[in-house]
Amino acid sequence: MMALRELLAVAGQPEVLRYWEQLSDDERRLLAAELEPLEPRELRAHCEEAARARARHTAPRDRLMEPLPGEAIGSSIRTEAEILRRWKERGFHEISQNQVAVLLLAGGQGTRLGVPYPKGMYDVGLPSGKTLYQIQAERIRKVQQLAEERVGRQCTVPWYIMTSEFTLEPTQKFFTQHNYFGLVKSNVVMFEQRMLPAVDFNGKIILEQKGRIAMAPDGNGGLYRALTNNKILEDMDRRRIRFVHVYCVDNILVKMADPVFIGFCVEKGADCGAKVVEKAYPTEPVGVVCRVDGIYQVVEYSEVSQETVEQRNTDGRLTFNAGNICNHFFTVEFLKSVTEEFEPQLKPHVAVKKIPHIDEKGNIVKPETPNGIKMEKFVFDVFQFSKKFVVFEVLREDEFSPLKNADNAGSKDTPSTARRALLWQHYRWAVQAGAQFLDHKNNRISPLNQFQEAEEPPAVCEISPLVSCEGEGLEEYLKDREFHSPLLLTEKTVAALG
Ligand code: UTP
Repeated sequence: MMALRELLAVAGQPEVLRYWEQLSDDERRLLAAELEPLEPRELRAHCEEAARARARHTAPRDRLMEPLPGEAIGSSIRTEAEILRRWKERGFHEISQNQVAVLLLAGGQGTRLGVPYPKGMYDVGLPSGKTLYQIQAERIRKVQQLAEERVGRQCTVPWYIMTSEFTLEPTQKFFTQHNYFGLVKSNVVMFEQRMLPAVDFNGKIILEQKGRIAMAPDGNGGLYRALTNNKILEDMDRRRIRFVHVYCVDNILVKMADPVFIGFCVEKGADCGAKVVEKAYPTEPVGVVCRVDGIYQVVEYSEVSQETVEQRNTDGRLTFNAGNICNHFFTVEFLKSVTEEFEPQLKPHVAVKKIPHIDEKGNIVKPETPNGIKMEKFVFDVFQFSKKFVVFEVLREDEFSPLKNADNAGSKDTPSTARRALLWQHYRWAVQAGAQFLDHKNNRISPLNQFQEAEEPPAVCEISPLVSCEGEGLEEYLKDREFHSPLLLTEKTVAALG
């Protein structure tokens, strides 16, 4: 108790213990467990900085912004097939040498989606009922298998999963229940990021219950501290990993250990890379990758003037159009330089949120308007430390459809849009491979290739990642054959077709 009082005194937060006398032994233990890992002076700085940062006005950054220089950009859209093939084979070469890992950022609270379990466990309503975690696991298995076919020996792509207090336990249980979706358990490494208290606008820690602080994970840029605290880079060294593909849990179209992206980055000698998609419209709420005062970074559309956001080149494309999709390449060397040297320089960002809290009488209040601040570091803020930074442009409809909101919260980035994006993609693959779909009267459905986010594809077709990663190898099962919708292609069903 003394130690706790002292910690909070140094942190300038003695009020946190104002209900101490009313707490049970269990509640006291839990409260102490939340606080004890925090260094008191750091905690003080965190709370003070949160209040200051909210009050601070940041000047628009337009004047210093420059688009990406051509030599830093690669594209899966505007590159000859031969070169794409070369990058892909380079990527597969690194994978087959067991030098590539994937790293999932899955510590977020997913407040907008609003389910009481980790987002990775969400089923968007595919015919197979697969969750995001299962889809990702199967994509890893397929990439390993494709690498194995190339070299004729076993290949492993370890899967590092960053979780938080909210997501670790349920994620572990879910993976155990599902037998790690066919992956080898020792190649799935889960670790936990730090939690920090949320504070009010005066920099005071918010209590969500008498004995419970409102804690939040420290942002996906908490990755770098979490790598250190959990000795993850040592684990990568033991496995001789050299390249890491980092991604977010909520993108249903994510490619795992994408060989083309990895091959491109390795060939360019990059230590850090970002996949981007062309921004859909000027005010789309995605950050853009650009240079500010010569330094690579991601700028949010809210940080610049309308004029800059709408600026276009002579070809009509937006000048700042490289939409960040939180999909990154890092060398392990680069990650070491960040964790050992640069991490303390990463500036936390302020997120003003509605945070449930207790009032003077100890009653729980759910605020209608934002009342508190969470401070988060962002994974992409390390671009500035890269010695060789590259950007890789990909097609949105092939690679990016994030699950952010619940279905009733409007039409963007919801379970329905994610499900449709995946089903449209699989439908396109099937049609390209020569499949013919029939309606319930056995009439041919005329093929339609135009992706419409708001509409269902003409026929429902879901292809297991274990059958095809990106549409490859389907002709032998589908060419000139007729199918009724829904078509579910699994390892079992294709065995009957092949
Ligand atoms: P988002 O910024 O979309 O946040 O995270 P979120 O927590 O998933 O959802 P909201 O904002 O509460 O609705 C983008 C990615 O970063 C991860 C998330 O799990 C997601 O993959 N993330 C976010 C972390 O790993 N840790 C964090 O502290 C925050």
